[in-house]
Amino acid sequence: MERVETAEDLREWVACRRRAGERIALVPTMGNLHAGHLALVDRARTLAERVVVSVFVNPTQFSAGEDFAIYPRTPEADCAALAAQGADLAFLPTVAVMYPAGLPGAVHVEVSGALTEGLCGASRPGHFSGVATVVTKLFILVQPDVAVFGKKDYQQLAVIRAVVRELGLPVRIEGMETWRDTDGLALSSRNQYLDPAQRARAGAIHAALTEGAAALTAGERDYAVLEAQATARLVAAGFAVDYARIVRPEDLQAPTGQENRLVMLVAARLGSTRLIDNIEVKLSE
Ligand code: PAF
Repeated sequence: MERVETAEDLREWVACRRRAGERIALVPTMGNLHAGHLALVDRARTLAERVVVSVFVNPTQFSAGEDFAIYPRTPEADCAALAAQGADLAFLPTVAVMYPAGLPGAVHVEVSGALTEGLCGASRPGHFSGVATVVTKLFILVQPDVAVFGKKDYQQLAVIRAVVRELGLPVRIEGMETWRDTDGLALSSRNQYLDPAQRARAGAIHAALTEGAAALTAGERDYAVLEAQATARLVAAGFAVDYARIVRPEDLQAPTGQENRLVMLVAARLGSTRLIDNIEVKLSE
């Protein structure tokens, strides 16, 4: 596996692969890779001849007071894991490469409207603008045919799909199922902030989502009741709940009752650690 840090070296590598007629899959990450990221790499390898993984802790997607400074950075271990997983190129840009005009950057990609206003957008101002901006820059730099993202960050995935649609970017977006621990906790680099007692309770998020999904499948349509039940379950497990919401998968808005598919999303804190997760539900006709 090769490793580059500058836009010039990246472009040269990409141009060389393109001349050879090879397709490129991109897996954007913030590093500190776990099994979930490596599963994204595996999927990417099935979609293109070459796999590029970017590792960049993007400052503009962290709001004031969030964990940017302490976000775990493990580039050497990441590169070793990526090489073992069969990635072809690791791209580890500096802030100056991604933001040549300095922070907070001179050009921003903003997805306005309901998609970014609710859910995580309500409590993380600027977060989705930071994500949309950095992902757009990565798409321009790498020019991938396809990019693979995890579905744990469900709203992020919807925002990225909106960017691609709205800007007409020639990249296919692949969403991949969430990788989970044995108790159902979605894998996340932030899980390591949990102390043992918190970790023991963290599986309650998946349990609450599974319970909500089962009720929806069984025909329950009082979404407010299901959201309140999930919230109560999480509060009983020691969480401070940011939201538990049932919405439409395509635009993350409240259901009208006509949907065949719904998604239930949760964001909740254990101590200072904010965890998110979701479950997609196919409703019986
Ligand atoms: O999901 C992430 O790890 C990040 O939000 C992403 C997509 C790499 C952008 O920084």
